[in-house]
Amino acid sequence: MNSHLTKLQPYPFEKLKALFTAHTPNQSLTAINLSIGEPKAPTPAFIKQAVQDNLDTLANYPLTKGNPELRETLVRWTLERFNLPEHSLDPELHVLPVNGTREALFAIAQTCIDSSHNAKVVIPNPFYQIYEGAALLAGAQPVYADLRVVENDIPGLDEISDATWQQVQLVYICTPANPTGEVLPLQGLRKLIDLAHRHDFIIVSDECYSEIYFDEQSPPQGILRAAAENGDSNYSRCLAFYSLSKRSNAPGLRSGFVVGDSNIIQHYLKYRTYHGCAMPVSTQHASIAAWSDEHHVKDNRDRYRQSFANAVEEIADTQAIQIPQAAFYLWLPTPIDDEDFAVGLYCEQNIVVLPGKYLAREVDNRNPGANRVRIALVASPTECREAAHRINKYLKNIS
Ligand SMILES: Cc1ncc(COP(=O)(O)O)c(C=O)c1O
Repeated sequence: MNSHLTKLQPYPFEKLKALFTAHTPNQSLTAINLSIGEPKAPTPAFIKQAVQDNLDTLANYPLTKGNPELRETLVRWTLERFNLPEHSLDPELHVLPVNGTREALFAIAQTCIDSSHNAKVVIPNPFYQIYEGAALLAGAQPVYADLRVVENDIPGLDEISDATWQQVQLVYICTPANPTGEVLPLQGLRKLIDLAHRHDFIIVSDECYSEIYFDEQSPPQGILRAAAENGDSNYSRCLAFYSLSKRSNAPGLRSGFVVGDSNIIQHYLKYRTYHGCAMPVSTQHASIAAWSDEHHVKDNRDRYRQSFANAVEEIADTQAIQIPQAAFYLWLPTPIDDEDFAVGLYCEQNIVVLPGKYLAREVDNRNPGANRVRIALVASPTECREAAHRINKYLKNIS
């Protein structure tokens, strides 16, 4: 067996299942599960239709690189969305389709890490657990970093010593972040890119929540925009990852893409050719349709905006809630231990939320997820109101 497997922690949902085994939910209330970040709105009909219309392509092997039409669509979307210099991305060189960003975020570490040198990988804390597993299975040591935003900066970057930076080969960032909803500011991203050049590491920017935001006037910016503002339209050492799962309510389609530094992309393509993870052509057609339409994405944002408004209204009399900048999670402070809070809410109100501790690691005797729960507001606005109403009742009971 691969000895690195023993280093992997159980996934947060396994921990949650274990936590709940000895407990029974309040059966008089309907169950509401807000623990998983899986959109509950239906996948738009035109995306499903595009899959159906292209089922004949099942007769052929797809290309790992994807069809040219798909790569052109992905490049067009990225250039427009982030207002990048014209022609700075070439569909032949700078982009690859992936079967959802989860596998891609994992595979990039396997491609880039050289484990013969004490490799280190910086990951945000709290985080999406794939970063940690990807680093460990690539033979690297995770460095859990506090990447919170303070006044347009990411001061946690300054806390990493030069000696550590020398060993860092890859940095994962998540912007907008799961679970906090924070968007990393351009100034902080530009500083990170400077560090990447100074210490020779790769930035993997997970931007799968980039299209779920609340202020239509200021969509979140990302790593490629920051590189462009640094005057680098080769995007060197930078990769951005985008997904249709949240943007288009299509987590089952398994469609995303990676875009950025053409040199890394070429190595990644080599890795992926062996990995055998080409995207089915019917999925490619559905992806072209989805990335070419913004109406359904705007409708989606309107729904999340309503869900958050409903939730805030219900809980406001007990606890002031900060609406995140983006993504669809409430990262709610809890007046008691987060595991106890989750168990109590399950038993009293039949609502499932994720204890914050499960999404972070203890550093210097502090777990940044402690006394928080992650509430995924993915249900309909009406169901989110009902859930928030019950959470408020529960908060009142325990305070
Ligand atoms: C932060 C983050 N990154 C990546 C993913 C993976 O998304 P997908 O594989 O569906 O593109 C998720 C899924 O929940 C996520 O929360």
